[in-house]
Amino acid sequence: MNFRCALTIQFVIIFCFRSGDTSKLQDHDTAVRKALAVINFDTLQFLKKYNYEAERHKVVTEDGYILNIFRIPRKGPPVMLVHGIGDSSDSWLVLGPKNSLACLLADAGYDVWMFNSRGNKYSKTHVRDLSNKELFDFTFEEMGTQDLPATIDYILKRTSRKKLTYIGFSQGTTIFFIMCSLRPEYNDKINHAILLAPVAWINHTKFALIEFFTEILDGLTAFSEGAGLYEVFAANHLLNLYHVKVCNVNSVLRFLCEIEYYLNYGIREITNLPSAKLPTLASHIPAGLSAKSLFHFLQNYKNKRFQRFDNGKLKNQMLYNSDRPPEYDVSRIKTPLTLMMSESDWFSNVEDVEYLRRKLKSVDNFIVINKTVDFTHIEFVYGSRVNVIVNRPVISLLQRLHL
Ligand SMILES: *[C@@H]1O[C@H](CO)[C@@H](O)[C@H](O)[C@H]1NC(C)=O
Ligand SMILES: *[C@@H]1O[C@H](CO)[C@@H](O)[C@H](O)[C@H]1NC(C)=O
Repeated sequence: MNFRCALTIQFVIIFCFRSGDTSKLQDHDTAVRKALAVINFDTLQFLKKYNYEAERHKVVTEDGYILNIFRIPRKGPPVMLVHGIGDSSDSWLVLGPKNSLACLLADAGYDVWMFNSRGNKYSKTHVRDLSNKELFDFTFEEMGTQDLPATIDYILKRTSRKKLTYIGFSQGTTIFFIMCSLRPEYNDKINHAILLAPVAWINHTKFALIEFFTEILDGLTAFSEGAGLYEVFAANHLLNLYHVKVCNVNSVLRFLCEIEYYLNYGIREITNLPSAKLPTLASHIPAGLSAKSLFHFLQNYKNKRFQRFDNGKLKNQMLYNSDRPPEYDVSRIKTPLTLMMSESDWFSNVEDVEYLRRKLKSVDNFIVINKTVDFTHIEFVYGSRVNVIVNRPVISLLQRLHL
């Protein structure tokens, strides 16, 4: 699909969303009403509904961000789940108790901890009273150098353990690579990391709009500054209503949902996402991210490097002692790793992951899902086939490793 077409369709989506009469939604159809009941469910409400014991914990980072993380307490070894870009701990629960990795791990006896990065809907506060500009002045690098270390230390202290197991998806793998490269002492605090749809170099990303966004990157950066737009894709109630409507199984507007999922995630067959859960799922992403994080990804795409944030020559000299930002040195990663990727993934591309794998020194398992399975990026967390393809293999791997 070419760019002009893509843009037109996105426009149509936004247009329909604006002009749609959401007030009549509830009278129309019971499925929509039911979906609306769970639309604003948070992690604790999901767990209560599924009859799982649940705890909320507050982690404060060295630089003062307050992260709310969630736990399903169990006697077994701790496992930490790390969500993708613009997502949250909800992602490990949306599919219900029988298909969600968090529940299945708890059933298998693991002590499950669900992370929330700074800037998402659970982690938007700071010990000081910051302006929006200050609060959102971070990229995914700080999630790797601040949020993950603080959370890992917190979990190890609470559980009196020396190590934990890490499971990350997408950006949840990016920030793992960053942590272990820039703060290598954390390699020893993780006994094994399972990295689903790993993202580091993104030379070959297929996302339709990335070329366009990259071309206008400078303008976009200036615009964000000028307009005071420091947070993008925040959780939005009206957008949630829109998704409940168009992603409903019986909706005549369902094609809008299908187009959106194809454009954004490359999903050709919408039934690869569980249709009954689709409205709930669509309502939980996005959960907010900083504009700077988005720009950082775009810079890396543009420069074809997995590098630190580019602040311009002057500030780069100050921060990094060079005009150009250094690349993350992934050869410093020592934690035993399992990489799992799919040949149909637009974001965690085969060539890019192969390149990454050659640079890593501690890959124990490399699992590639065949092209014929047509397993796309978000299906690693949200797919109808997630149990067979991801969840069960992940749990048997942990058991085989005696973790
Ligand atoms: C990405 O492109 C850069 C520059 O062309 C190249 O040095 C690097 O090896 C490429 N990486 C991958 C994964 O293709
Ligand atoms: C992928 O599956 C197809 C069809 O089953 C098969 O022909 C092909 O050899 C498989 N590729 C790999 C790399 O296993």
